[in-house]
Amino acid sequence: MNPLSLRNVTKTYKTQGKPLITAVNDVSFTIEPGSIHGLLGPNGAGKSTLISMISGMQAPTSGSITLFDVDMVRNPEQAKGFLGVVPQEVVVEMAFTVQEVLYYFSGMYGVPKAQRQGRIDHALEDLQLSDKKDEKAKTLSGGMKRRLMIAKAMIHQPKFLILDEPTAGVDVALRQRIWDIVRRLHAEGTTILFTTHYLEEAEQLCDTITLMNHGAVIKEGKLKDIQKEFSQNSIHFELYDQNVPHPEGVHRTGSEFEFPMRSLAEDMEMLTKHYNSNLKAIRSEAASLESIFLTLTA
Ligand SMILES: Nc1ncnc2c1ncn2[C@@H]1O[C@H](COP(=O)(O)OP(=O)(O)OP(=O)(O)O)[C@@H](O)[C@H]1O
Ligand SMILES: [Mg+2]
Repeated sequence: MNPLSLRNVTKTYKTQGKPLITAVNDVSFTIEPGSIHGLLGPNGAGKSTLISMISGMQAPTSGSITLFDVDMVRNPEQAKGFLGVVPQEVVVEMAFTVQEVLYYFSGMYGVPKAQRQGRIDHALEDLQLSDKKDEKAKTLSGGMKRRLMIAKAMIHQPKFLILDEPTAGVDVALRQRIWDIVRRLHAEGTTILFTTHYLEEAEQLCDTITLMNHGAVIKEGKLKDIQKEFSQNSIHFELYDQNVPHPEGVHRTGSEFEFPMRSLAEDMEMLTKHYNSNLKAIRSEAASLESIFLTLTA
């Protein structure tokens, strides 16, 4: 039973007098239990539109969306029960205090009354909002509002947590804290789907990714496999004395040397034997997500 399965999901928008917009175009992928899945792509790629359909906020024009085998279109109430969602836009209940907001949401999501206060205190502490608990939500700073949204989304301990750019515009310390929370929830068995424009963040957190552009999936799978596929297939090395004979195929790149990789183990052995103690450093390079992203979306 996968937390998420998308089959041929399409969303088009028709506004009068304007051409049809296909925001999401025939998207299919699954997220397996216990994954941290990164949904990546440039501005306007269709990520938030897809997330709003996965969250049941709008219906797909065509295609099917199931959460733990429950169809989001046919059975939205049950499907939504699995979810916690942090949308991209900041939405908080301005007139209520932080604690009231969390109390309201824990009730709405069916957290038993006896457990509510404990959960709220825990969430407040987790997101460092304890000293703001009696303040009205409208008086919070932007970063604090985002923290409150995250607290709201996890108060009922959902099996599947979706975060649309949770770390956009937050300070460095809070970003680290959000990562820690994501990692902890993941360790506790929560499946996570999130979007980010910080590819380094995706590199550190994700097991699997979907890369979208112009509404469509352009790459999908295990982050490690994708990095392998795009790896530069070359060995880079540095020498103490550069004026020595080189094996065939070696060429200089700046202060380094490069050798096209055939078999990592054999090539490393050959180079080590050839250069011996003249070899200062040697490494094979996996492509960074940023270079993969730029290659695919250029
Ligand atoms: N309600 C709507 N009506 C018309 N067009 C829409 C609507 N919502 C989204 N779009 C269009 O769909 C496309 C995808 O938008 P979306 O918000 O899903 O992108 P995104 O990948 O989340 O981008 P960002 O990284 O900037 O958040 C854009 O061209 C956008 O203008
Ligand atoms: Mg978006």
